[in-house]
Amino acid sequence: METPDLYKTIFKRKSIRTYDLKPLEESTLKKISEYLQNLTPLHDDIEVEFKILSQDMVKRRMMKKAPHYLAAFSELKEGHLSNIGFMLQQMDLFFSANGLGTCWQGIPTLKKEVLEN
Ligand SMILES: Cc1cc2nc3c(=O)[nH]c(=O)nc-3n(C[C@H](O)[C@H](O)[C@H](O)COP(=O)(O)O)c2cc1C
Repeated sequence: METPDLYKTIFKRKSIRTYDLKPLEESTLKKISEYLQNLTPLHDDIEVEFKILSQDMVKRRMMKKAPHYLAAFSELKEGHLSNIGFMLQQMDLFFSANGLGTCWQGIPTLKKEVLEN
């Protein structure tokens, strides 16, 4: 996986909603986790956490299956939505630049046992 020039990817990215359900290699997931640790926040005083989830942890509702989900959690402070959106958009571009299809999904929810964790 590359650490891409995100600016160039802005003009190429698009939402993908049909996925190859074969899980990603562990080494790819590791690189995604590393990239997640280095995102630039808009507000560095807001605590955020990201989790890569498998499909059995998510209630999809009407959305098609995906092999993985990236869930974002944030402290509730002024600017928290812009902050998390700014950070997730960097991931959106990173995935696009590396040939991984994604789209933003607010309809699916986490299963109760995952939320309890
Ligand atoms: C916070 C957020 C949640 C969204 N939730 C969903 C969703 O659950 N299902 C869906 O099909 N699109 C959802 N969308 C819309 C898309 O994933 C996508 O951003 C939108 O269709 C614009 O697509 P494009 O910029 O790739 O053309 C959501 C967008 C945002 C910003």
